[in-house]
Amino acid sequence: MENKEQIESQIFKLEEKHKDSGQDLSSYLDGLLYQRYLTYRVYIHLDTLLSLQVPRTYFPYEEIFIMHHQITELYFKLILHEQKQFVDHKAQDVDFLIEMARRINSYYEAMISSFRVKIKGIKCTQFLKNRTALSPASGFQSVQNRMMVMYVTPLEHLVNFSERNQYASKSTIEKLYEHVYWKKGAADRTSGENTLTLKQFEYRFTPRLIRISRQLKNNAIYHKYLGLSEEQKNNKRLIKALKTLDINANINWPLIHMGLTRRYLGDEKGQGDATGGANWKEFLPPSFQKNRIFSRIVNQRRVKRLGRTMGRSFVQAA
Ligand code: HEM
Repeated sequence: MENKEQIESQIFKLEEKHKDSGQDLSSYLDGLLYQRYLTYRVYIHLDTLLSLQVPRTYFPYEEIFIMHHQITELYFKLILHEQKQFVDHKAQDVDFLIEMARRINSYYEAMISSFRVKIKGIKCTQFLKNRTALSPASGFQSVQNRMMVMYVTPLEHLVNFSERNQYASKSTIEKLYEHVYWKKGAADRTSGENTLTLKQFEYRFTPRLIRISRQLKNNAIYHKYLGLSEEQKNNKRLIKALKTLDINANINWPLIHMGLTRRYLGDEKGQGDATGGANWKEFLPPSFQKNRIFSRIVNQRRVKRLGRTMGRSFVQAA
C-alpha cells in the first residue's frame, strides 16, 4: 500500500513537471516502456572510445603513442573540470577550494605517473620512424593544456618572460595574447618563422582562447585566492594545496614531458627535431618558460632549485 502511495505521488510530480514543460506525460511513460535497458557499454560510449585509436603507420608502438595522448587529454579535462568549479564557486568556502585544489593536484600526479610508465615503455627506434608520419601535429596544439594555465593565472603572467615586465594588466587581452609565452616555442629552428604547427593552432583556437581570457579576467584561480579574507588567505592547508598546484603545473608536468621529449628527440649531441620543426630545446624547459601562478606565495628561489634538481633526475630517469 505504502509503495502504491509512493508511486502515485511520483506520478503526480511527473505530471507537474511535464505540465511546466508543455510535454505529454502519457507519451513519456510509453517511451519508458519501449526503451531498452541501459548497459555500461552504451552509457559510457565504450565502443566509440575504443575505436578512436587509429594509427597512421604500421608500427605497433603508434597505438600506445595515441593512447597516451588521449589519456592525458582526459586528465586535462578532469583538471579543467575542477578548475571551473574553483572559479565558479561564489561562496568563499575555503574547505571547498582546498578540496578542489587537492583534486587538481591528484590528477596532475596521476598524469605524471602515467608519463613515467611511458618513458620506460616505448622503444626510441620505433618512435623515430613513426613520428615523421605525424608532422606537423604536436601536443603543442593541445588547447586544453593552454586553457589549464589560463584558468589559474592572469594572461599578463603568461606573457613571454623576456617581455613580461612591459605588459602590465592595463594592456588589452588581444595585446597580451599576441605575446603569450607558447608562441615563442613555435619558431622554425632554421628560418625563425612561425611553424605550421602554430599557424594551425592559431587559426583554430585564437577566438576561443581570447573569449576564455575575457571570461577569466579578474576571475582566475589566482584572483579567487587574492579575493579571500586575510584569515582565509593565511589558511595553511590552502596555501600548501595552491603551492603544490603551482609546482605541479609549472615544474613537475613540464619536466616529465621534457624528460620524455629528450629521450626521443634530443640525445646529448643535440640531434632530433620536433614534428613541427620547432625550437623545443629552448622552449620546453620550465626554467625558460618561467611561468608562475602564485609568485606571492611560492618562494621563487626554492622553485628554481627544485626545477633544476628535478630536471636532472627526470632526464637521468629517461
Ligand atoms: C614520445 C613522446 C613525446 C614527444 C617526443 C613529444 C615532443 C614534444 C615536442 C618536441 C614539443 C614542442 C612543440 C613541438 O615542436 O612539437 C611538445 C610539446 C607538447 N607536448 Fe609533447 N611529446 C611527447 C608526448 C606527449 C604526450 C603523451 C602529450 C600528452 C598530451 C604531450 C603534450 C604536449 C604538450 C601539451 C606540449 C606543449 C608544451 C608547452 O607548450 O609547454 N606530448 N611535445
